[in-house]
Amino acid sequence: MTNKDHLIIFDTTLRDGEQSPGASMTRDEKIRIAKALEKMRVDVIEAGFPIASPGDFEAVQAVARTIKDSTVCGLARALDKDIERAGEALKDAESSRIHTFIATSPIHMKAKLRMEPDAVLEQAVHAVKKARQFTDNVEFSPEDAGRSELDFLCRVIEAVIDAGARTINIPDTVGYNVPSQFGELIRQLIERVPNSDQAIFSVHCHNDLGLAVANSLSAVMNGARQVECTINGLGERAGNAALEEIVMGVRTRQDVFECNSLLDTTQIATCSRLVSSITGFPVQPNKAIVGANAFAHESGIHQDGVLKSRETYEIMRAEDVGWTQNRIVLGKHSGRNAFRTRLKELDIEFESEEELNTAFARFKNLADKKHEIFDEDLQALVSEASMALEEESFKLVSLRVCSETGETPYANITLNVDGEEQSGEAEGGGPVDAAFRAIESVVNSGTELELYSVNNITSGTDAQGEVTVRLKRDSIIVNGQGADTDIVIASVKAYLNALNKLSDPVSRAHPQLGDV
Ligand code: KIV
Ligand code: ZN
Repeated sequence: MTNKDHLIIFDTTLRDGEQSPGASMTRDEKIRIAKALEKMRVDVIEAGFPIASPGDFEAVQAVARTIKDSTVCGLARALDKDIERAGEALKDAESSRIHTFIATSPIHMKAKLRMEPDAVLEQAVHAVKKARQFTDNVEFSPEDAGRSELDFLCRVIEAVIDAGARTINIPDTVGYNVPSQFGELIRQLIERVPNSDQAIFSVHCHNDLGLAVANSLSAVMNGARQVECTINGLGERAGNAALEEIVMGVRTRQDVFECNSLLDTTQIATCSRLVSSITGFPVQPNKAIVGANAFAHESGIHQDGVLKSRETYEIMRAEDVGWTQNRIVLGKHSGRNAFRTRLKELDIEFESEEELNTAFARFKNLADKKHEIFDEDLQALVSEASMALEEESFKLVSLRVCSETGETPYANITLNVDGEEQSGEAEGGGPVDAAFRAIESVVNSGTELELYSVNNITSGTDAQGEVTVRLKRDSIIVNGQGADTDIVIASVKAYLNALNKLSDPVSRAHPQLGDV
């Protein structure tokens, strides 16, 4: 990277991404994603919000202890107790950062914080000084900066840089800005804050108007040298700026950007699949960079052009973002060693022999039904195997479904509920509906089904279907996933997975609703 600045990639999939309804991740899932991000050479991984819950604290601590090559960051409101908790969670990290924030927009200060601007400024300075007691690497965010008054923002930023903040992150918290205005804001801040040269300016854009990536790139053109983003654009409400779009945008248009990231872009597709399968948020087929159709040329004119010279219609190479032909890796006759070796090549390691055995048994089962096992199948299978080892209240014992023209679909199900077998039956509009009603006749969960989606993991009619079910009970929303070559069974697995998550909900505080 000659004569180009380093664009720091700050991934917040594990923190802001996790704030998507239903996207909560377990500690082990966070570690798997963090390892994939580290392998992709992400500079900073925001692992969570340690004060939010004991589970969040443990996850940040575990990521901090595992990751060696990326900086691990924890979020903290501008409160001593938050900062102390973050400092504690991060203390074993090879390289750590505390990210502290307080809102600076008139509406947030008045309606949410009920604080005068001078008190906010004072609290911001205090928080940064407090965070510096734990690490030299302190980031400060004036929350809702995109709707804050410029003069006040300049005062706050100057003061927190003096207090020791080395990264100043400008969030467009509600996704209100448009690219020219947001770029101009960054330019003005860098120009007007007298000590701006002592900090890296960063941006954190939300996608409410579909402008998160455009706003971030406009900021980069105006001097920002860190972008906060998430895999697949996951995040609060409409999500955050998508990492893969930022990284490939800058890399592909080196003629217009004066910086570049150090990422290994060939890891992008793997990370995208991993995050999608862990969170249960499918990637839309036409999503830039990581959608299934992103490099597919359907029209004859395009195909002809690409065959003659790929640059006619392709501005990036599929292999540069890790899209390779689905590789047949294993089959019915593959043994335990081949299975373990291929998983190792995919960077999937097991914590225990028991986990490996569960996954291998499931692999053998799948290989009986589906002769060619692809990497994507293995990833789904491993996610399921690690879920199966968690304490589950509801397990599928057997299912019988009848679906026939002219007849009402019917399902009969037997579940193991906390160690005791219970059966139920129901009719429904279709086989999946009947199966869900049969489950409910046993468990009476009192939930609402908020989302049901099916994706095929690979192509072909023998492919596994990956089902996501989102259930809501009171204010708790969870996503469940299940995969199987039989769509109804995959659906039932997903439904039970969601119910199991509901029976052990991870209670998390929300950073933006805090009592700062
Ligand atoms: O969107 C936002 O403002 C945030 C901050 C905590 C940086 O996520
Ligand atoms: Zn955010």
